[in-house]
Amino acid sequence: MAPQRPDNCLLVIFGGTGDLARRKLYPALYNLFIDGFLPHTFQVVAVGRRDLTLEGFRREILLPSLKTFSRRAADLATNFTPFAARLHYFRTDIYDPRGYTDLATILAELEQEAGSRGSGADTCRSNHQGKGAFQGNRIFYLAVAPEHFGPVVRNLKETGLVPAQGWQRVVIEKPFGHDLPSAAELNRQLRAVFSEEEIYRIDHYLGKEMIQNIMVIRFANTFFEPVWNNKYVDHVQITTAETVGVSDRGSYYDGAGALRDMVQNHLLQLVTLVAMEPPASLAPGVIRDEKVKVLRSLRPLDPAAVGANVIRGQYGAGEIEGKVVPPYRQEREVAPDSLTETFVALKIFIDNFRWAGVPFYLRTGKRLPDKVTEIILQFKSLPDILYFKEYGELQPNVLVIRIQPLEGVYVQLNAKRPGNDNYIIPIRLDFCQNCEVGVNSPEAYERLLYDVMRGDATLFTRWDEVEAAWRFVDPITAAWSAQEPPQFPNYAAGQWGPPTAQELLTRDGRHWWQEGE
Ligand code: BG6
Repeated sequence: MAPQRPDNCLLVIFGGTGDLARRKLYPALYNLFIDGFLPHTFQVVAVGRRDLTLEGFRREILLPSLKTFSRRAADLATNFTPFAARLHYFRTDIYDPRGYTDLATILAELEQEAGSRGSGADTCRSNHQGKGAFQGNRIFYLAVAPEHFGPVVRNLKETGLVPAQGWQRVVIEKPFGHDLPSAAELNRQLRAVFSEEEIYRIDHYLGKEMIQNIMVIRFANTFFEPVWNNKYVDHVQITTAETVGVSDRGSYYDGAGALRDMVQNHLLQLVTLVAMEPPASLAPGVIRDEKVKVLRSLRPLDPAAVGANVIRGQYGAGEIEGKVVPPYRQEREVAPDSLTETFVALKIFIDNFRWAGVPFYLRTGKRLPDKVTEIILQFKSLPDILYFKEYGELQPNVLVIRIQPLEGVYVQLNAKRPGNDNYIIPIRLDFCQNCEVGVNSPEAYERLLYDVMRGDATLFTRWDEVEAAWRFVDPITAAWSAQEPPQFPNYAAGQWGPPTAQELLTRDGRHWWQEGE
């Protein structure tokens, strides 16, 4: 089946020579181009401060970006030139309104050109009702730090770049605020120019293949849904572990920490997908309505609960993959007496009918032994009769959804070992997607950029989700600030966080699954 191409549109990337554009956006656009998912007359204008000619931009920024970060770099010889012809470079200071006036002229020219090419038979037309042929549809990607969002969108409006002739969309990256008040202020600035439906807040975890698969696994199989509740599920574990430290992001990370950097967004989004009720339809608004209900049902953590159920850690020196690595406090642009957490583990509850009483254990951290993201549902054990009585200590049933680096899903069951001794062993029904389908699943940004062009907001975070997530997280940071400063570092690089992270489960008679399984 031929790929479905979105409406014609232009994409303007602010921060067009920056890290995000080079590591993620250009490679994603390139792969969408190769796969035929870009609109026929699609053009990109990269906006940056660097003094580069168009030729220089294509040679110094674009080509190295694709060579280093594209999942398909081998075919550059054939594809680079036609792809690069769609990318333009515009140098300006994003605080200078005159730059926006010139940008408006460039966009108008590109749209006019596309419009005249658009009289050809193969060109998509806008879906806009009643507006005639080619529309000036525009996407503005703010690949810049959040403090620039407000000024950029204000300039877009004041210089007439929005409203566009057709539709307009703005894409923004995390961090979306530092707490609820700062997030609300950021949102106010964006909403002064764009409607909520036009704002696409990226959470790149939602673009990952297996995360998109969670809803399919849950709602397209008969046998999971009936047991997906507190009658059968003993507890849920979600781990996103990284072996890397903070690399060159020390100055951002030291002001954020693992709770804001990973839990407020990625981990809570995973919780919503695991815990949401079946939506009435697959419409983006309907799915997001169900997700936000989960966030609103999270049991708030008061200071005592934070003390008991939220563990924070910071790595000291240690070994990762056989190499000695320095402590967090010696990373670049990190305060030498930093109290920022690089690890957090927490036990939370969702107070609704489906999940009442089922703990969700979450953990994330840097400099852990493995790069792994997994969701584990451990089912309740059967009553102590028959095999559970005779053999004791049988393994529970678990469902593991592997997000990365392995993508797949397995179910652990108990079965008889062949032979005369009636030995019962755990076995796995295992589907490894990237072993079978190939390791080359599309990068999250490919899907996300494609969805922005199509106007499908399902995999983006709506404001009420962001708001509810901050409402849950803010009391944790408030409780931490009121507590005695932690004794950091409290885990060596290469360990699974501080010992208290293990105790969080052992005191409930449980354990984290990766270790020793
Ligand atoms: C980002 C965080 O959102 O996610 C980073 O800011 C983290 O600190 C990254 O390293 C992890 O993403 P992934 O896709 O590598 O798991």
